[in-house]
Amino acid sequence: MKYNFDKLSNRRHTHSEKWNVKDNELPMWVADMDFMVMPEIQEAVKKAATDGSYGYSYPTEEFFKAYQYWWRSRHDLELDTKSMIYVTGVVSALDSLVRTLTNENDNVMILSPVYNNFFTVVTNNKRNLIVSDLIYQNDNFYIDYQDVEEKVKKHNVKLFIFCNPHNPVGKIWEKEDIEKLYNILAKYNVQMISDEIHCDIVDPGYKYVPALSISNDIITCIAPSKVFNLAGLHSALTVVNNPELKNKIEAAFYHDDIGEASYFAVPAVIAAYTQGAQYVDELNQYLLINKEYVKNYLKDNLPHVKYVSGHATYLLWLDISYYGLPSDRFAKELREQTGLFINDGLHYGKNGGAFIRVNVATSLDNVKDAMSRLSAYLKGK
Ligand SMILES: Cc1ncc(COP(=O)(O)O)c(C=O)c1O
Repeated sequence: MKYNFDKLSNRRHTHSEKWNVKDNELPMWVADMDFMVMPEIQEAVKKAATDGSYGYSYPTEEFFKAYQYWWRSRHDLELDTKSMIYVTGVVSALDSLVRTLTNENDNVMILSPVYNNFFTVVTNNKRNLIVSDLIYQNDNFYIDYQDVEEKVKKHNVKLFIFCNPHNPVGKIWEKEDIEKLYNILAKYNVQMISDEIHCDIVDPGYKYVPALSISNDIITCIAPSKVFNLAGLHSALTVVNNPELKNKIEAAFYHDDIGEASYFAVPAVIAAYTQGAQYVDELNQYLLINKEYVKNYLKDNLPHVKYVSGHATYLLWLDISYYGLPSDRFAKELREQTGLFINDGLHYGKNGGAFIRVNVATSLDNVKDAMSRLSAYLKGK
């Protein structure tokens, strides 16, 4: 391996949100990795730092071309740089898109359980949430198309926010899934947004299907922040192919003051997407080792905790229903008694109440430590 994923950045007692925990605690919650940022990105940021002037910036042609190159070479998708809009973050983009594409009291649909901010970008903007629960069957998750169609029709849904691949549950949606969903939404004129922030974190041998490969009119949010651990640099992209709609959304991003590039993000993103292929391949290999460790550990030592994650993201979705405890209580007690800090499933919707989410983007040693802490908590239960 060229990159060393056993070597972690030391983020205790820094201003890391994830590591703002007590000294005995092990944080495996928010979707933020503990690995050192790829050295090529560090070099680009260092160079920008020594240039010595951190004023207002703009995303250059080279910046947009780096995204284009990555999607062409990794995802077989040709993105037009003219359809790209810089935005400081995916959540900011979703928040603004909800306001631009709908009116107050309109209905917006999501599939639950899902990333918690999908709920808040709707409700904070005084739109109504229409939730379709994923079907949980045979340790897997499926879209309930009949439920989606019935609710879209009944509630006159205007906008649908999709998570591809899906956080939590780690599901890589198949081409047929996205096509089927898109066809229902198109039939009722519902605008679809696809949040693809986790798309590069897939087990070796797996590939995600960009929603834009199904239809050009799906608004897509992409970013290097999860896979290269750049969330603190605030850089993402919204892709909108319809020129009129693109202008409208771009204007809204400026109005919301989320359209101006971060000085350090521009060189960092260029380095990531032009030099990051091997890093991402090796990262996914390392993450698979961690995932397999958890899977095997649970099978051998904690068979009542069920591993039900798919093949994407570093966020494991574990079924704890056997213990009969609501997941918020489970997570609270686990943290209080062992220091292991994970996310409770209720954070991601009412139907997440029998699950926990565990972030394994850390060293294998930490993953082993986490499993021992989980065992200690569950002893005798
Ligand atoms: C599905 C999804 N979208 C968006 C985000 C956050 O994106 P950003 O930091 O760019 O706002 C996350 C973070 O975990 C996520 O899981």
